[in-house]
Amino acid sequence: MEVKVNTLTPEVFLTLYQSVGWEAPCIEQVQTALENTIATFTCYDNNTAVGMVRLIGDGGMSFYIKDFAVIPLYQSRGVGSLLMEVLEKYIKNFKNREWTVSLELISTKDAISFYKKNGFEERPCDWDGPGMFKMIR
Ligand SMILES: CC(C)(COP(=O)(O)OP(=O)(O)OC[C@H]1O[C@@H](n2cnc3c(N)ncnc32)[C@H](O)[C@@H]1OP(=O)(O)O)[C@@H](O)C(=O)NCCC(=O)NCCS
Repeated sequence: MEVKVNTLTPEVFLTLYQSVGWEAPCIEQVQTALENTIATFTCYDNNTAVGMVRLIGDGGMSFYIKDFAVIPLYQSRGVGSLLMEVLEKYIKNFKNREWTVSLELISTKDAISFYKKNGFEERPCDWDGPGMFKMIR
């Protein structure tokens, strides 16, 4: 299993995205999103893409995880954790060494334990409310 940075194409994105049952946007929207992404991480088994995650953000204070998906056949085999490890190393190298930055996301209900296992704290908590979300049409 090998993770590659910035190899994700819109076509592969759509295949992985739909493999976990998400309703996909059109390819032009995906293309634009990928062009404005800080980095993509794709996990390959030989030459087959089996998982992905996308890192977006401002590069200074906040980074955000989007579209974390591992194809069902490969779930619970460590692919997600490997992608997360590579993504976190990428941020450490990318940011100024002196800076502390936040890595944020909104979890699906099923993935909460996966993110907790990878060191994320759940919101709401004693000092913060829940994450908020709105679709613009
Ligand atoms: C969530 C996801 C990215 C995790 O990737 P993964 O390769 O399955 O994760 P790993 O194998 O590294 O870690 C699995 C651990 O995470 C936890 N976990 C929580 N939810 C899980 C799920 N739906 N599937 C697999 N593991 C899950 C378990 O503790 C599991 O450990 P175990 O295998 O010992 O039980 C992947 O399961 C997935 O694509 N799910 C569907 C899409 C999704 O919900 N994405 C999250 C978007 S916010």
